[in-house]
Amino acid sequence: MCWIEVKPRPWGSPKCWELRRLIVGSVIGVSLVLLAYLVVSQQFAISAHNAQWITAAQQTRAPCEKAERGNVVVCNTEGLYSDTCEVDGDVRTNGTALSVAVVVTTTGSSEQLEWKIKPYARRTVSVKEVTVTQLPNQSTAPPPCTVNHSIPAVVFALGGHAGNYWHAFCDVLVPLFVASRRYDGEVLFLVTNIQPWWLVKYKTIIQRLSKYDAVDMDADAEVRCFGHVTVGLRIDKLFSIVPDLAPGPGGRRLTMVDFTAFLREAYALPRGAPPVASPSRDKQRRPRLLLMRRGHNRRIVNEDEIVRAAEAAGFEAEVVELPRYGRVDEQAPTVNAFDALMGVHGAGLTHAVFLPTGGVLIQVVPYGRMEAIARAEFGAPAGDMGLHYLEYSVTAEESTLMETLGPEHPAVRDPESVHRSGWDKVNEFYLDKQDVRINVTRLAPTLAQAFDHLRQQQL
Ligand SMILES: *[C@@H]1O[C@H](CO)[C@@H](O)[C@H](O)[C@H]1NC(C)=O
Ligand SMILES: *[C@@H]1O[C@H](CO)[C@@H](O)[C@H](O)[C@H]1NC(C)=O
Ligand SMILES: *[C@@H]1O[C@H](CO)[C@@H](O)[C@H](O)[C@H]1NC(C)=O
Ligand SMILES: *[C@@H]1O[C@H](CO)[C@@H](O)[C@H](O)[C@H]1NC(C)=O
Repeated sequence: MCWIEVKPRPWGSPKCWELRRLIVGSVIGVSLVLLAYLVVSQQFAISAHNAQWITAAQQTRAPCEKAERGNVVVCNTEGLYSDTCEVDGDVRTNGTALSVAVVVTTTGSSEQLEWKIKPYARRTVSVKEVTVTQLPNQSTAPPPCTVNHSIPAVVFALGGHAGNYWHAFCDVLVPLFVASRRYDGEVLFLVTNIQPWWLVKYKTIIQRLSKYDAVDMDADAEVRCFGHVTVGLRIDKLFSIVPDLAPGPGGRRLTMVDFTAFLREAYALPRGAPPVASPSRDKQRRPRLLLMRRGHNRRIVNEDEIVRAAEAAGFEAEVVELPRYGRVDEQAPTVNAFDALMGVHGAGLTHAVFLPTGGVLIQVVPYGRMEAIARAEFGAPAGDMGLHYLEYSVTAEESTLMETLGPEHPAVRDPESVHRSGWDKVNEFYLDKQDVRINVTRLAPTLAQAFDHLRQQQL
C-alpha cells in the first residue's frame, strides 16, 4: 500500500508504512472468510471474495514509482476497495470517450501512461471504466477545450449498489464528501452511469457539496478543461472516513463527525447533541428511543414488549418505520428528534447518521455469527460518528429459525457450517429467513447502558 501526495498539497503526506499499518491493523483478527464478507459486503458471489482478498494481500507491493515520476497523474489502485486518480495540470475530459487526459511538459519523458479506472468506489462493481492518460508531449494532445473551467472536477459513477441505502452512503455519499468538501461547493461533478432518481433522492446533500448542476458525463459532447480532476471515489474504511486520507477545508482533516454535522446543516436538523439538563426545568425530558421497524425480514416480532422494556429503563420509546423509498428530507428530522436508535442489522440503521452526536446506536445482531459484519458495517462507523455503540446479539432461542427450522437444523445448531458453505446460505438463513423475538430480560442491561450513557451527558 502506498500513498503519494497530490499537488497542490491540501494535506500532509502520510508515509507509506503508516498507511499500511493503518489498513492492515484494521484487518488483523478477522478471519479470512469474514474479511471477504466485509470487503464485498452483502451482494457478492464467492469468486469475487477471492479476488478481493488477493488484492488486499498484494498491498505489500510498492506501486508508487510510475506515478511519482510525472507528479501529474497520481493513481492509488492498491486499497482494499477502490481505484482513483488525481490529475493535475492541463486536464481535458471527453465524455463520449470517457477519457481524462493530461499533457506533461515538464518530465522530458516520451512515455505515454494509461490507467483504467472504475469510477465507482468498489472495483468489483461492473461500471464502465474511465481512461486516464498522461501524454508525453503537445503533439499527442487531445483536441482543444470547448469549455474552460476555473474549478476542479470529480468524476464518479452511480449505479453499482448505490440503490441500497447503506451503500448509497458507504459507496458514494461519504466518499464524495471526502473528495469534494474541501472545495466548499466550487467543484463540478461529472457523473457516469447517471441515475436521475438517485440524484433527486440525495439532492440536498449533492447540492451542498457542489453549487453546480452535475454533468451527465456519458452524454457530454464537450471537451472540458480543468486544472485538477479527481477520477473515482475511495472507500478507505466502510461507511466511514480515515482522517489521514481526508483533506478538508483549510487543510484540516475530515472525520465522520464532520460528515454528520454537514448532514445536519444540509437538512437543517435542529439537534446537534442530546439535550443538556437545565436546572430551571423541574421535569427532565426523558431520552427518546426510536425502535426501528423493518418491513419484510429480520423483523422484531415482540416490538410492544421492547417498547415497554425501554420505558421501564427510563426512555420515551416509539416504534418507527422509515420506508425504503421514503424521502430523506422527511426521515432525517424524524430520526434527529430521538437520542437513541435501536434496530436489527440492516440498511435502515444507516439512519444513525441523523442522530445527534453523542446519541446511542443499539444494533441487534441476528442469530448466526453475524457480529463481525455487523460491527464493520455499523458498529465502527457509529463510533466514528461520535455515537455510543451498543450491540445485542440474538441467541438461537430468540431467533424464529428455532421454530421454523427446529433445533437440529445445521443453521440453528452449527452456524459455522453455514458460513463455510458460503455467503448465499448465510444470506438466506440469517438475513432473509430470520425474525427475532428478543428476550427483554436479557436486553434490559443493554437498555440500561444506553440510558446511563445519555443521562451522564446531561449531568
Ligand atoms: C471525444 O472522443 C470521441 C471518441 O474518441 C471522439 O470521436 C470525439 O471527437 C471527441 N470529442 C471531441 C469534442 O473532440
Ligand atoms: C511525442 O510522444 C509520442 C508518443 O509517445 C512520440 O511517439 C513522439 O516521438 C513524441 N514527440 C516528441 C516531439 O517528443
Ligand atoms: C480555453 O482556454 C485556452 C487557454 O487559455 C484558450 O486558448 C481557449 O480559447 C479557451 N477556450 C474557450 C472555449 O474558452
Ligand atoms: C431470558 O433471559 C434470561 C436472562 O438471560 C434467562 O434467565 C431466561 O431464561 C430467558 N428467557 C427465555 C424465555 O429464554
